[in-house]
Amino acid sequence: MAEWKNKVALITGSSRGIGKAIAIKFATMGIKLILNYRKREEEANKTLEEIKSAGSEAIAIKCNVAKYEEVKQLVKQARDHFGKIDILVNNAALGIANSFLEMDVESWQKQIEVSLNSCFYVTKEVVSDMINQRWGRIINISSLAGIYGIKYLSAYSAAKAGVIALTKVLAAELSQYNITVNAIAPGFVETEMGLSYFKVLELMKGIKNPLEKFLKYSTLTKKLVKSEEVAEVASMLVSPLAENITGQIFIIDSGSTLSILEPVEN
Ligand SMILES: NC(=O)c1ccc[n+]([C@@H]2O[C@H](COP(=O)([O-])OP(=O)(O)OC[C@H]3O[C@@H](n4cnc5c(N)ncnc54)[C@H](OP(=O)(O)O)[C@@H]3O)[C@@H](O)[C@H]2O)c1
Repeated sequence: MAEWKNKVALITGSSRGIGKAIAIKFATMGIKLILNYRKREEEANKTLEEIKSAGSEAIAIKCNVAKYEEVKQLVKQARDHFGKIDILVNNAALGIANSFLEMDVESWQKQIEVSLNSCFYVTKEVVSDMINQRWGRIINISSLAGIYGIKYLSAYSAAKAGVIALTKVLAAELSQYNITVNAIAPGFVETEMGLSYFKVLELMKGIKNPLEKFLKYSTLTKKLVKSEEVAEVASMLVSPLAENITGQIFIIDSGSTLSILEPVEN
């Protein structure tokens, strides 16, 4: 796909999980990558190698996207290296499962800062390149939690609902510059974050086999979503034939939203 050879994408939180899968998919399309991570340098370096094997160019930048000053440095370093950013995927987030009654102010603020404020900080710093060149693609990774709310994830659900609202407003304000803004809202995905929710239900809430029960009664496909499936939708959203798709929320949830139709067995 020759037309992608000069496109550059920044994906926050892309050393592992969904962000990594999107990075590798974009690399196979010839898009150059700016990876970002918060702590795990070794995993980021491993992802860099995989991107190079997929035939693309990439750099990895350590940055806590919840800190605006660090985000400014991240974007500066990215521009110094590649000259511009055409595609932004706001993917990094933090979800700490706990009941609302046990939630303290610090935990609430941290989750909102990483999962919602970061989208504002990074988009604010990146969008000028897209405006100047009259072309840009922004994808925000929300969650089913942001649409329905998920028990024991109050701060995370609130942040992800905010991400959906931000997506719609940005789509409306940025369309005049030929920038599309969409969100992907996965259900439970086979990553460290997705699996940790079920571990918390088991260890802290005493629920037996929560993952097995979830798959059996709360999905149609009986499988967790794969990171690569989220990446596939992301690749569609940056493709040339997606220029009129904007302000939309793409749910990928193993049929969870329809699982009410599943008969409950004893
Ligand atoms: N997994 C699910 O079931 C699920 C469902 C719906 C939506 N989502 C959303 O999908 C996105 C990716 O989730 P995931 O499951 O792939 O998560 P994950 O496996 O926990 O990976 C998180 C990634 O984000 C990075 N990160 C975390 N905090 C950061 C920060 N403050 N600044 C910069 N990078 C940070 C991590 O870097 P380090 O490696 O350095 O820690 C890592 O690369 C998130 O927006 C999440 O809310 C996930």
